[in-house]
Order: sequence, then structure tokens, then C-alpha cells
Amino acid sequence: MEVSVGDDYQGRTALVTGASKGLGRAYAMELARRGSRVVLLARSEPELHALAAEIRARHGGTPAEVITGDLSAPDGPQRVLHELRDRGLTIDLLLNNAGAGITGPFLQRAIEPQLRTVGLNVAGLLALTHAIGAEMVARGAGGIINVSSNGAFQPVPYQASYAATKAFVLSFTEALAEELRGTGVHVMATHPGATATGFFDGSSVTMDPGADNPETVAGRTLDDYSRRRGASYPGRTATRVMTWAARLLPRTTVARIAGSFSRRQQWHHAVDTA
Ligand SMILES: NC(=O)c1ccc[n+]([C@@H]2O[C@H](COP(=O)([O-])OP(=O)(O)OC[C@H]3O[C@@H](n4cnc5c(N)ncnc54)[C@H](OP(=O)(O)O)[C@@H]3O)[C@@H](O)[C@H]2O)c1
Repeated sequence: MEVSVGDDYQGRTALVTGASKGLGRAYAMELARRGSRVVLLARSEPELHALAAEIRARHGGTPAEVITGDLSAPDGPQRVLHELRDRGLTIDLLLNNAGAGITGPFLQRAIEPQLRTVGLNVAGLLALTHAIGAEMVARGAGGIINVSSNGAFQPVPYQASYAATKAFVLSFTEALAEELRGTGVHVMATHPGATATGFFDGSSVTMDPGADNPETVAGRTLDDYSRRRGASYPGRTATRVMTWAARLLPRTTVARIAGSFSRRQQWHHAVDTA
């Protein structure tokens, strides 16, 4: 049975991490359009307040809360959880979107931002999911959407650590979805392909000119969640087809193909520009 889009969103409270720009901003706007009260989380306070004001103005005063926090900091997720508790906010939908990654040859790029990537994409996501997921299971209702990537399905040379964090998100989400089957809590991963955001800001890498737009990706992800899909492939069809090849070919072959794709994008020469 097809669930009508909107059932999961009207009057619900959604926490969107990484809401200050890019895909997270688009998710927050789309959730508000579908009637959700949104809790906007990122490090950039002015951008979050501007977005909250825009949402209230566009959607007739729909509540939009702002929480600033650094999810890659060891105590970052705990601070966010305390803030939610202090404000009496119960989360119906957790959208783990915040993410970052470094492009370039692994050994030639600094280790600190790569460790922060693991902290944000893996540890931050795990900590929020653990605490908020437990509350949802206790209530017998709720949902979690983890933003993974088409890069989760194969090793990606010159984005080695970033793609590995997304492989973690893919595996973790599939396992948790099965653990929580029947609890009333739906868990789904979404796997965007190249999406026109500021993901590569501050580096010499440029976004694919044919990248999907964040609004389309956000809308399709939320539609797939409403349909209770286990996974969402919200980008162009070609993005999804590439994930099939990675499942059929030997892994060393896949790594070589991915490496030549990366070199064609000049990712092996990537440097910071800011
Ligand atoms: N764009 C793509 O092509 C693409 C493709 C596949 C998957 N994805 C995934 O989509 C998600 C969103 O990426 P995007 O493309 O929208 O990137 P983006 O434009 O760079 O946005 C990243 C968001 O994460 C927040 N963030 C970064 N570090 C944070 C931290 N330490 N603590 C809390 N928030 C933090 C940023 O806000 P602040 O800087 O204000 O903290 C921002 O709101 C990521 O998980 C990414 O891996 C993107």
C-alpha cells in the first residue's frame, strides 16, 4: 500500500543536522513545507537563525528552533542532547545530514580534518542515533534518515576516508533498520550522488556541472521515507546504476575504475584554497 506523502511530516518535530546550508537547508525547507516543526542544527549560528526566520515567514509561523553545536567535538552530541532536553523537544524524525570530507591523496592531506570527518560522519551520527533512537523505540514511533552517498558502495581513491565513512553509514543503517523492524521506528539511508552544494568549498575541486539540485534530492528522500523504503536513491538514474556495477565486479577492479574516475576529476591534485 502506498502511504500518502505528508503523513509522516504534518505536525511532527524533525531534527535536521547540518541545516545551515546545502542539502540540510533543503531538507529543513521541505520538511517545513510539509508541515513539520524543524530543529536546525549546525555550527553557523547566523545562517541557522536566518533560515529559521525564513521558514517562519514562508510557512505562517511554523516553529523553527535553532541549536548551534559542533558534532565532531567529543562532547558535541551530548551538548545537543542536553539542549533538546532543556527545551523539552521530543524528536519524531532525526535527519542525520551533517557531513564533510576531504578530497586528495590520503597521505598528502593533513590528518586532522580527516579525523574530524570521522568524528562528524561516524561518531556524531552514532551518538545522536543511539540516544534519540532509544527514545523513539520507547514511544514505539519515530524515524531516522541517515544521509550516506553513492560513494558508500565502493572505495573512492582520493576521497578514501570520506567514502569509508559513508560505507560505515550504509552498513550501520541497514543493520539498525533490521534491528528496529517492528518497533514502529523506521530507519532509512539516503544515497545522493553529486549534488550542487558547497561541499567542495575551500578546495580546488569543483562540483560536477550536472549535479542534482538539493531541493529535488530532499523532496525525493522524504517521499521515499514516506513509502517506507529501506534506501533512497534521490539522484539521477545513472548514479544508482553505478552502485550496481560496484556490487557485481571484483573489488580491486571497482577500486581501479573509481580511481580513474577520480583522476579524471583531478582529485589526485586537490589542494585547499581557503
Ligand atoms: N553534495 C554532494 O554532492 C553530496 C553527495 C552525497 C552525499 N552528500 C552528503 O550530504 C550531506 C550534506 O552535505 P552538503 O553537500 O550539503 O555539504 P555542505 O553544503 O558542506 O553542508 C554541510 C552541512 O554540515 C554542517 N556541518 C559541517 N561540519 C559540522 C560539524 N562539525 N558539526 C555540525 N554541523 C556541521 C555544515 O554547517 P556548519 O558549517 O555551519 O557547521 C553544513 O550545514 C553530507 O552528509 C554529505 O556527505 C553530499
